[in-house]
Amino acid sequence: MNIGGSIRVPGDKSISHRALILAALGSGVSTVRGILDSHDVRSTASVLRALGVDVPALAPEMRVHGVELHGLRAPGRDLDCGNSGTTTRLMAGVVAAQPFTSRFVGDESLSRRPMRRIIRPLEAMGARLQCERGEGLPMVVYGGRLRAVDWRTEVASAQVKSAILLAGLAAEVPVSVAEPFLSRDHTERMLRSRGVRVLDRDGAVALEPVSSLAAADVDVPADPSSAAFFAALAAMADHGELLLPDVCVNPTRTGFLQVLRRMGARVEIVDEAVRGGEPVATLRVSAGALHGTDIAGDEVPSMVDEISLAACVAARAEGITKITGAGELRVKESDRIATVVANLRTLGVDAEELPDGMVVHGSRAPLRGAITTHGDHRIAMAFGLLGTTDGAAIEIDDRACVEVSFPGFWELLAGAVQG
Ligand code: S3P
Repeated sequence: MNIGGSIRVPGDKSISHRALILAALGSGVSTVRGILDSHDVRSTASVLRALGVDVPALAPEMRVHGVELHGLRAPGRDLDCGNSGTTTRLMAGVVAAQPFTSRFVGDESLSRRPMRRIIRPLEAMGARLQCERGEGLPMVVYGGRLRAVDWRTEVASAQVKSAILLAGLAAEVPVSVAEPFLSRDHTERMLRSRGVRVLDRDGAVALEPVSSLAAADVDVPADPSSAAFFAALAAMADHGELLLPDVCVNPTRTGFLQVLRRMGARVEIVDEAVRGGEPVATLRVSAGALHGTDIAGDEVPSMVDEISLAACVAARAEGITKITGAGELRVKESDRIATVVANLRTLGVDAEELPDGMVVHGSRAPLRGAITTHGDHRIAMAFGLLGTTDGAAIEIDDRACVEVSFPGFWELLAGAVQG
């Protein structure tokens, strides 16, 4: 396969959610440029609308009138988060500090995902949260006056960290969060860019209370988790190179690039600049003879959404790849350890599950079979990519689920391969 050219992937999902939430809580008008118009980000917009914020339809350039820290209104309907864990957990933090009750609902996959991780810290701050079944959605948040908290998370999770930071912000109380490894830090960066003091205190992030949040404009860079699919495509190609401009290269998100390099691909990060507190750059990726690697420890949070993709690349690399320390994958949009291993085996690849990861044996045999995505966008895209390899014939049960994070993925992929 030959590849070439330049692909600008859509805006970063994590930054898009946060841009809307902070714009809503700000004083005055914030402009957001380059927002990701995907199902997940639409969920955040619609939850904010249910809370009385006048969020316009998502558009390449949009203005949001903030209602300030205390201007949200009691919702007249359930807060439907669709498939989006980020919407649920971040907004639960925000509404925990409001003097009203909110009920969160979501689709089947989201309803299975664990909420105890946010319930415990938000209850320690004085809110009350109740799940109607187990520890998933529907979940009712009884908001109210909150107190300060110093929290230590068991897993590195930007969603949990952000729920606590946003609860502290909305409640005007100091909070700190210590995590075993640093998770993505977009919330901290965006708060700092609006003048909020978010400090590193003995390895924990600590937010100092403010009585109002400034409006600010955000230029959303391209999503490194979406760019990763095209970086992987270039890494597996026979000839050529791909340029991926304007990608967020925040070090809490670039683990996959490191892994691709270690596996033998050429990955250069050029034209780096800082925009709105986030580093952005062009990625230049070309193929190499790929070989297996080990992925573990603090590398995992910096590529938590790219592990399924790394496993798929490993299926075409020489030798064995072992992934450990990734137990979080079991509670993503699907159990990504079970889903990836089962699908790789369906394609004839030798792979096995570990409790907190997997082992994948690379193979050059043509990959053939039918993939079950369980509606998980990243599984659909990772196996879609394998479908472009020599001799592959891969059927994917739900191609439309990519709309969660990457509308236009299939067209971009087809264009890049024909390119
Ligand atoms: C996200 C954090 C990560 C990631 C998710 C987006 C965020 O989840 O998997 O896609 O925007 O904060 P965890 O915080 O649960 O690891």
